[in-house]
Amino acid sequence: MTETLDIKITKTAHSRLNETDFNNLPFGKVFSDHMLVADYADGEWKNFEILPYGPIQMSPAISALHYGQAFFEGIKAYKHDDGTVSIFRPDKNAIRFNKSAERLCMPTLPEEVFIQSIAALVDIDRDWVPAKADHAMYIRPFMFATDPYLGVTPSATYKFIVLVSPVGPYFSKPLRVKIETHYTRAAEGGMGYAKAAGNYGASMLPGRKATEEGFDQLIWTDAKEHKYVEEMGAANAMFVLDGTLITAETKDTILDGVTRDTVIALAKDWDIPVEERKVSVEELVEGAKSGKLTDAFGAGTAATIAPVGSFCVDGTEYFLSDPATREFSQKVFTTLNAIKYGTAPDPHGWNYI
Ligand code: COI
Repeated sequence: MTETLDIKITKTAHSRLNETDFNNLPFGKVFSDHMLVADYADGEWKNFEILPYGPIQMSPAISALHYGQAFFEGIKAYKHDDGTVSIFRPDKNAIRFNKSAERLCMPTLPEEVFIQSIAALVDIDRDWVPAKADHAMYIRPFMFATDPYLGVTPSATYKFIVLVSPVGPYFSKPLRVKIETHYTRAAEGGMGYAKAAGNYGASMLPGRKATEEGFDQLIWTDAKEHKYVEEMGAANAMFVLDGTLITAETKDTILDGVTRDTVIALAKDWDIPVEERKVSVEELVEGAKSGKLTDAFGAGTAATIAPVGSFCVDGTEYFLSDPATREFSQKVFTTLNAIKYGTAPDPHGWNYI
């Protein structure tokens, strides 16, 4: 058992809670009253502090801005009917946070410190967790390099910050998806498995081109041949083909998604065969033609379970069944929500109360 983290707390004098419209919560635009900030210097983490949410002052020379030593996590907290607030699987995010840190040559944070930091902030702003179906509090922990130095070398100082943001559903309709065969999200030996800020920056141009062509999202394919499906936008891509749940295996180019892992665990609970392996675009096309591709969705913390309505390969669009009739993803969505909102038992112990 780790000691309790020493956090200095300064509460806001003017809560914005009553001015916030909880019926209109576009993703990531509304922030709670407080944030948590900590510093890394002289080889250790210090100055853990919860203070009113607001701007922070920094040198324009900080290396995060120039060389991208920055990464983040995404987690959600849910309100149960009895007022309990639970955080979904923060232990998984704590592990991935440190994998990202190591890949970017940045300091790790003890898992207990990561979890206690977010739990303390969620606790202080617990009234900001929406009590509404399909709503949650999105938790955004992140770290960035703060040395004011233009040399290309790992920074010696860093900041760890946690923000929390009440959110509604990320996507509101089944997605029209383009299979991307020109741009690449991640390559072997790269940092696709890390939640590096730069991975998301690099996705903006291909994403915007897809939007301009009328698509909602794109599915990334492998860097070498553009034949195998990797991820979908900022989520993992998952499919049910001929009764088997299939998704790309975790490796250098694939994020070890918490929702991905959760969906796999549920499928195994239900004795549904699971294959973590290369998924070719060709087999998806064949599956769409034969009707054996009965489910396709993105799985992510922000996106939760985001159904694919159709996918387009080199100008040909393949339409899938109405998502409301899809047995697997509907059951995953309902079961997962019941666990997260505390209306069903939590046999895997996923909720951190
Ligand atoms: C998340 O699901 O937390 C993500 O990483 C997506 C985010 C970039 C919106």
